[in-house]
Amino acid sequence: MTDSATFRPDHAQGLNDPRRLETQVSEAELARLLALRGDEDLLDLGSGTGFYTDRMAGLTTGTVYAVELQAEMSKHYLRRGLPTNVRLLQGDFTALAGLSLGPASVDVACSILTWHEARGGMDLPGLTHILRPRGRLVVIDWRKTPDSWASGPPERLRFSKEEVAAALLPHFTQVDSEDLGRFLFAVTARRGETPSALSPRR
Ligand SMILES: C[S@@+](CC[C@H](N)C(=O)[O-])C[C@H]1O[C@@H](n2cnc3c(N)ncnc32)[C@H](O)[C@@H]1O
Repeated sequence: MTDSATFRPDHAQGLNDPRRLETQVSEAELARLLALRGDEDLLDLGSGTGFYTDRMAGLTTGTVYAVELQAEMSKHYLRRGLPTNVRLLQGDFTALAGLSLGPASVDVACSILTWHEARGGMDLPGLTHILRPRGRLVVIDWRKTPDSWASGPPERLRFSKEEVAAALLPHFTQVDSEDLGRFLFAVTARRGETPSALSPRR
């Protein structure tokens, strides 16, 4: 069995299944977690086929930067068509300096089912550089509890919400976590006022 955690592009159609809004994150839940005014610039970390990117784009008049590692996944998204306020960026969220995103250019970043794929290796110093003061990060991923095994990746690839919160804490001033139903959790983190004060760029 391969130990690779990266999503297989030949399974991409499954990401477009509208039942995800019932079994994973509903539109109302996404809106609650993002808590937008409506004009923010967003960053979708690992956008896949754009299933949730489209929904983020409907919640803001700002730009949604959609970062995706695998060109094949982005092709699925491009085939369906991007909302006018989505900018697709091919790149790796474990090395955000490689992207064309300036300092303090994003209000809210969101990772949906991608934290485990990068083995928790998200570039958090780079992310806090890109986030505006008081900017936020929302991480949604698979719970690591026995009643959640029925769906999602194998246990060995999962992180608990406590592990994600502990990884975020050194980079953010406020971190909160919650379960989202049987399968998923959300960890929400907020930056302080000072640009990159906690996490100087490498
Ligand atoms: C399970 S899919 C979820 C896609 C989307 N967030 C959704 O919920 O529909 C995870 C996506 O993250 C992408 N990904 C994994 N590691 C990444 C990385 N280091 N940088 C950017 N994208 C990555 C994968 O290629 C895949 O498209």
